[in-house]
Amino acid sequence: MPAVPSPVIAATGLYVPPHSITNEELVTTFNAYVEEFNTTNAAAIARGEIASLLPSSAEFIEKASGIKSRHVMDKTGILDPSIMRPIIPERPNDEVSILAEMATAAAVDAIKNWGGDPKDLDAVICAASNMQRPYPAMAVEVQNALGLVGFAFDVNVACSSATFGIKTAADFISSGSAKAVLMVNPEICSGHLNFRDRDSHFIFGDVATAVVLTDTTLTSAGWTILGTRLKTQFSNNIRNNFGFLNRAAPEGIGKSDKLFVQEGRKVYREVVPMVTDMILEHARDIGLDPHRLKRLWLHQANINMNEMIGRKVLGREPKPDENVIILDTFANTSSAGSIIAFHTANSDFAAGEKGLICSFGAGYSAGTVFVEKR
Ligand code: COA
Repeated sequence: MPAVPSPVIAATGLYVPPHSITNEELVTTFNAYVEEFNTTNAAAIARGEIASLLPSSAEFIEKASGIKSRHVMDKTGILDPSIMRPIIPERPNDEVSILAEMATAAAVDAIKNWGGDPKDLDAVICAASNMQRPYPAMAVEVQNALGLVGFAFDVNVACSSATFGIKTAADFISSGSAKAVLMVNPEICSGHLNFRDRDSHFIFGDVATAVVLTDTTLTSAGWTILGTRLKTQFSNNIRNNFGFLNRAAPEGIGKSDKLFVQEGRKVYREVVPMVTDMILEHARDIGLDPHRLKRLWLHQANINMNEMIGRKVLGREPKPDENVIILDTFANTSSAGSIIAFHTANSDFAAGEKGLICSFGAGYSAGTVFVEKR
């Protein structure tokens, strides 16, 4: 019987958008909007017909989330109190779409870091929380932009999309469906963020990441995948009701639930134990001592969540280089967060050292990928 091919993570790539917004800039815009709203509606507020809006604060944002700044594709629209959303013009169909362009840039970086022949990439998975359009699939557009052949498709599991993409790619390689897979995570999270919502206006940033996975014949170094596991458990606590049936609803599209909404406290309370248990169970099942992991590359949503998960998994107070935090300058970049962490903090690994890529988010959904440096 021929041996089952072993999948390896060969390389990663990153595309960082051109603009960055600090908490102070974001809060200045938000508070200008609040002042304008409260002044315009002073009479109705005084009559008790509507509630006045409360200001935001940069100190709160950093303390509650760990976020100091975020990268975005367009800064001017977001920071204009009369607009408060990114301005991203539509492109004609014969131009590459903006999400595909970002994904392709990250992919080019990953392919360069891999050093292999792009022609060997016989599958593309676009795994992200917001696609440019329903069809044609983003992944097919990226495949075309890179001149690849084979098959390509999109996967959306919100913030967990990348680990679901890695597992799918690894399973394709093990089963012989593909020899080398490109998995991309383009995220314009600013497009679905309600910048007028005090509870969440600071949460997200934009970015794109890419991962090349191959069988062992196509990559000499890279990372052995020791185990992959996925989990979902239904919850309405992170939700976005934007969709193709919005235009069919007689009440129209106006409600703000067509953007990102969450019950942040509940998410915090419910997701931390779910993810911690999943990591510990997965480690036990593959005979791995989690206390001996050199590094955690966790999903990047909230520093307090990551510190709590880090303590429970490693069984000690993690040092900063053991529990990588990139959300301070990127914010929550949904599917891309754990991949940015992995991409930017793995070059000091010696052969045999082990780490964990882990994502979690809406669904609820979570994915664990234990890796060992080859
Ligand atoms: N500026 C100043 N104060 C604010 C504020 C803002 N922008 N937003 C909320 N507050 C206030 C609230 O009014 C509340 O005041 P009160 O105590 O007087 O009622 C207080 O801060 C605490 O609000 P709360 O919403 O409970 O904050 P929190 O500590 O839970 O932090 C999050 C909010 C969103 C940062 C946090 O809950 C979180 O990150 N949760 C996990 C979310 C997550 O991972 N989501 C995944 C998305 S994919």
